[in-house]
Amino acid sequence: MFPNPAAWVVVVVALWSQAGALDNGLARTPTMGWLSWERFMCNTDCEGDPENCISESLYMEMADLMTAEGWKEAGYQFICIDDCWMAPKRDAGGRLQADPHRFPAGIKKLAEYVHSKGLKLGIYADVGRNTCAGYPGSLGHYDVDAQTFAEWDVDLLKFDGCSMDVSLVEQGYVNMSRALNRTGRPILYSCEWPLHKWRSQTPNYTAISQTCNQWRNFVDIYDSWSSVKSILDWTAAHQDIVVPSAGPGGWNDPDMLVIGNFGLSGDQQESQMALWAIMAAPLLMSNDLRSICGRSKELLQNRQIIAINQDELGKQGYRTATVDHFEVWERPLSNGRLAIAVLNTLEIGSARKFSSEKVPGWKLCTPFCNITQILPQYEEVGVQTGYRVSVNPSGTALLIIEPIGSRGKRYHGILQSEKLTYL
Ligand code: GLA
Repeated sequence: MFPNPAAWVVVVVALWSQAGALDNGLARTPTMGWLSWERFMCNTDCEGDPENCISESLYMEMADLMTAEGWKEAGYQFICIDDCWMAPKRDAGGRLQADPHRFPAGIKKLAEYVHSKGLKLGIYADVGRNTCAGYPGSLGHYDVDAQTFAEWDVDLLKFDGCSMDVSLVEQGYVNMSRALNRTGRPILYSCEWPLHKWRSQTPNYTAISQTCNQWRNFVDIYDSWSSVKSILDWTAAHQDIVVPSAGPGGWNDPDMLVIGNFGLSGDQQESQMALWAIMAAPLLMSNDLRSICGRSKELLQNRQIIAINQDELGKQGYRTATVDHFEVWERPLSNGRLAIAVLNTLEIGSARKFSSEKVPGWKLCTPFCNITQILPQYEEVGVQTGYRVSVNPSGTALLIIEPIGSRGKRYHGILQSEKLTYL
């Protein structure tokens, strides 16, 4: 049927690239939205701190701003509830219920409100006996909880992994995936399976990507550069295991964007945004959209960075070189293009010069390519053989290179072989 061996290669590559992803039609590109946890945590004090407590009005206000302030146009779509939305006990019928004081209208009404803004609503539950903050877990209730979320018209479930015997983690996540599927409502499924599984063994990423639309691998993000950097380091150290599992329908989740909060400098915020784009990560901001500063807002709404994150090829990038306290990360993009991030990891002194010749054996452009720089500032660098840039401490330069001439043969390693190569 396929006399030409090249045709077989095409078929095998096509099958391989589709194998594994959860086929519920969701998360064809990384999820974009807002999630309350890192910024608002488990603040239930609506008497003392009504503006910032976990309540329906917090999510409604964020939904209002998502539409009013350009977030929706930029691609942010989900408003996600995290832990501490529940009443301390299930109702008489054994169903989860929202805290009646903080969510007086209930989750279904909140979903209606969020949908009326053209947005989607995410909710939070836990695979084990309790949520991480001690609210009722879903263990023993997967079907009824999935049904409840579907009846409330919820669009995403973040399913946490606390209070669960590590040997039961996999089965729990698979069972909830099936329960969600049985409801007939498309509900994007966000898991913490690998994070909890790593405690005892290397998780089965084939099974994970067949079960979940996105999955957390590593510990919670904090509002600090050391936290962001530790996530990057973990990802680079495990990239040969985690990167191949990502693609349309299923993504590695390095946790929330903390851009716009208190802990990151301007350069560090740019680094998080650039590297989350390279990693094809869900872009779930956890910040206060009521008071975010102009610079952070502009960065989070940067169309070129978002386009890298959402690129239709759906391949996650990875770290390809570390040299002279610079890290080079690369992500293959559609149309034979490549996104490159150069992170200056030296947290002392001032801006340092990076040049592509610093990387041994790296033929950035052979002989020429067209370079567009996105960070530190947008610049059409034009047709070049190499690239030089000055990068601030813990800052990142982000660029896109387009091949000139025959496609896909111009870059060291990754576009030629699609394999991980390290320099
Ligand atoms: C865990 C998760 C966090 C957050 C909290 C809530 O730590 O990893 O993202 O959901 O639980 O308690």
